[in-house]
Amino acid sequence: MCGIVGYAGLGLTEGGAAGTPAATRHPLEVALEGLRRLEYRGYDSAGVALAGPGQARIAFAKKSGKLNNLVGELDAHPLPDATAAIGHTRWATHGGPTDVNAHPHLADDDKLAVIHNGIIENFAQLKAELLADGVFFRSETDTEVAAALLAREYASTKDLTAAMAATARRLEGTFTLLAVHADDPLTVVGARHDSPLVVGLGDGENFLGSDVAAFIAFTKEALELGQDQIVTITPTSVTVTDFHGKPADAKRFTVDWDAAAAEKSGFDSFMDKEIHDQPHAVADTLLGRTDLDGRLTLDEIRIDESVLRSIDKIIVIACGTAAYAGHVAKYAVEHWCRIPVEVELAHEFRYRDPIVNEKTLVVAISQSGETMDTLMAVRHAREQGAKVLSIVNTQGSTIPRESDAVLYTHAGPEIAVASTKAFLSQITAAYLLGLYLAQLRGNKFPDEIAALLNELRGLPAKVQTVIERGEYVRATARSMKDATSVLFLGRHVGFPVALEGALKLKELAYIHAEGFAAGELKHGPIALIDEGQPVFVVVPSPRSRDGLHSKVVSNIQEIRARGARTLVIAEDGDDEVRKYADEIFWIPAAPTLLQPLLAVVPLQIFAMALATAKGLDVDQPRNLAKSVTVE
Ligand code: F6R
Repeated sequence: MCGIVGYAGLGLTEGGAAGTPAATRHPLEVALEGLRRLEYRGYDSAGVALAGPGQARIAFAKKSGKLNNLVGELDAHPLPDATAAIGHTRWATHGGPTDVNAHPHLADDDKLAVIHNGIIENFAQLKAELLADGVFFRSETDTEVAAALLAREYASTKDLTAAMAATARRLEGTFTLLAVHADDPLTVVGARHDSPLVVGLGDGENFLGSDVAAFIAFTKEALELGQDQIVTITPTSVTVTDFHGKPADAKRFTVDWDAAAAEKSGFDSFMDKEIHDQPHAVADTLLGRTDLDGRLTLDEIRIDESVLRSIDKIIVIACGTAAYAGHVAKYAVEHWCRIPVEVELAHEFRYRDPIVNEKTLVVAISQSGETMDTLMAVRHAREQGAKVLSIVNTQGSTIPRESDAVLYTHAGPEIAVASTKAFLSQITAAYLLGLYLAQLRGNKFPDEIAALLNELRGLPAKVQTVIERGEYVRATARSMKDATSVLFLGRHVGFPVALEGALKLKELAYIHAEGFAAGELKHGPIALIDEGQPVFVVVPSPRSRDGLHSKVVSNIQEIRARGARTLVIAEDGDDEVRKYADEIFWIPAAPTLLQPLLAVVPLQIFAMALATAKGLDVDQPRNLAKSVTVE
């Protein structure tokens, strides 16, 4: 949810843009650059706190609303030079999105500043204790309670790291906390418990961030922290301990994202740019994992082959768009491997006492690698003895760390809150996993696998073709900007595509949108069809041998007969469907199971263009945050 940045450097002077040497970077500029890159994690308010030599108190600024409001405030009231900075962008939980509730929260006579991501569940009890001690609170937040507790611990230890550890031991819930103190202006201390925090390693400077996007403009070298750790950074050192002060290990890694990939690069929005990135996201996810002879090499799946041969069930756990990727995976993996696959929303999985054992392979899909619901489901599955393989996009995140194996997608940073390229790369990775299991378990002949891999390798160029045809979709969307309800239908793999199309439209354009399995229509939803009701229909390939195509064509006729305006996604050359479509968005031919990678693209473009026509911010839709790190 919230985005967190910390920086300890030597630079007291001006400047600070990415690419300048550490010694000349201004901590405030570094913090703001990090917040710009993390704003997708929450945009209810933003704030910064700075510590500098000779300054008796923390300098800070905070403002409700988007980061630009904070930047305006800093322009109007500049802060002094500094050596350490922390910055926060908020998705409100306790306390509304006001200036007062914005982070940082100060304590110890404004000598201490704290920022926080997560929810402190025992905050009411702690607050009562502190109130009884005479502590005065300015905000309604749980964070201010942590700040007051930290101040009390610091008063007795005069050691910010020890005080943070003592504070962390008292807190229940989920938290990443960062703190700076005016007494020690070269130091930032962090704590994490079930909430993300990574370290960026520099030369004469060090960084902290909710994810690597916070510092990739400055360094690619990073440390992955474990659960329940305290980290202390200064310009020249990084120390990691557990909550009892015992030295702890952190795993070093090099970030393979390119900083330029987190820029808009001339596009109007990150979402538009990320839609255009999709051919690369698919190609990069395939890269190095297949050879031209049609063998798959997924060395990263470090689960014993005998275990993978013996599994008798797969359960995919994920949320939102990632769950729809899992839904597509179900069709493909069951067909190729003849293993039953269940797809479960991660937040439902754990609470229904699922039947999971050592013969179950749980596949967790997550772009961020931090979604709390998914993480909790991963833990539950492992406790029941299942092996967990995660499909994740973000290095250094928690879900891969807690899984038995990880298959990284290589979509690069996804900044727009609504997922696009991550979805395509998740489906691609799931196809690879399905084919790998089929290869391992002997469900498919090598030449069949080779043929499917060949089709997959051809998909990035086809995705590109769909994107190039986007103007017609945009024009249609602009003409529908006053629509109040849009329905989406699909069968087989077209069903999760319909669900994803509806989700994109809801979250971006704030209008009623619903996806249905086309076969379900007659069981109720057809009552919604009225004169002019727009309905998108995802049509399977006319070459599919299972009668799917004609079933969907019949569904189109049924809704059209009742007045629906049909917007059809169909394969090039599908003359049959042309007769029943008010609008057609053509996509290149592909085997039915692989068609989602193409069919979803017009739906993404449609949602983005309609929201843009309504004057909405497509990168930061209201009420949402990209990484949902609370349950
Ligand atoms: C929708 C969207 C969300 C995410 C979901 C899971 O556009 O982005 O539905 O797919 O919150 O997030 P991750 O993949 O980070 O676990």
